[in-house]
Amino acid sequence: MSILDLFSLTGKVSIITGGERGIGLAIAKGLAEAGSDIVIAGIDEQNLETAAEEIQALGVTCMAVKTDVTDEGQVRDMVNAVCDTYGHIDVLVNNAGSGRGKAAEEMSEEDFKWVMDINLTSQFLVSKAVGNVMLRQQKGSIVNIASMSGVIANNPQPQCNYNTSKAGSIMLTKSLACEWAGRGVRVNAINPGYTKTALIEKRLSNEDPILEDWLRFTPMHRFGVPEELVGAALYLVSDASSFTTGTTITVDGGYTCW
Ligand SMILES: NC(=O)c1ccc[n+]([C@@H]2O[C@H](COP(=O)([O-])OP(=O)(O)OC[C@H]3O[C@@H](n4cnc5c(N)ncnc54)[C@H](O)[C@@H]3O)[C@@H](O)[C@H]2O)c1
Repeated sequence: MSILDLFSLTGKVSIITGGERGIGLAIAKGLAEAGSDIVIAGIDEQNLETAAEEIQALGVTCMAVKTDVTDEGQVRDMVNAVCDTYGHIDVLVNNAGSGRGKAAEEMSEEDFKWVMDINLTSQFLVSKAVGNVMLRQQKGSIVNIASMSGVIANNPQPQCNYNTSKAGSIMLTKSLACEWAGRGVRVNAINPGYTKTALIEKRLSNEDPILEDWLRFTPMHRFGVPEELVGAALYLVSDASSFTTGTTITVDGGYTCW
């Protein structure tokens, strides 16, 4: 087997949550190019439809399932539908996420819980449902999209709910990795830095002054693009990383070095 064969996903089935746009869509397309059939599970019906067409154009099948990943019943239904269609699940990328930044002293309990539910509880719920399938198969790879904000408090940006949720994602990754390592299921994480997607689009279009700080604190002095996360994702989901579990790959243009 050649080194490149280790990165092949031919014959595999990959679920990407929030795969209808941004980082999730870039990863979904990357895994499709590597040969995997794709399932995108998200809340935006219109984007789900267009994204599925773009992914199918790459020569694989793509199932789009409207799923709110904070709802355990919807997650279970999505996973059952994937098993009914394909009979196996090889890869899960827990990518769906969002933010609602505010100063801690003004943040409501609802603002805190909303972000924790989307960014952290959802990763537990989907990992649990898919993990049960992978444990039966004794094979599978899960990648959680965390953030550099899981290891640093962004300066000068008050968002304790987001940072805490992403730190939780990194610890969820390590915990699941240890619980499931002996049963064929690997769990890893990716920490993106500032990446040009809808999540930061409003600031980009308003030329928000905070952008200067973001660039100044990034040694590479630019934002990333979603496609720059695909290599790390492909490595972690494929057999190329067969001895890698419980770890985090940071893709942040050097932001967390300073
Ligand atoms: N863009 C960045 O700078 C950046 C940096 C670090 C980490 N991240 C993380 O990367 C991931 C993807 O973010 P993005 O930048 O592509 O943002 P995005 O807003 O473009 O994409 C988020 C996706 O999640 C989906 N989603 C949101 N709530 C959902 C729910 N309840 N159920 C199902 N799907 C839901 C959205 O429909 C969308 O497709 C997130 O976890 C985010 O926290 C992004």
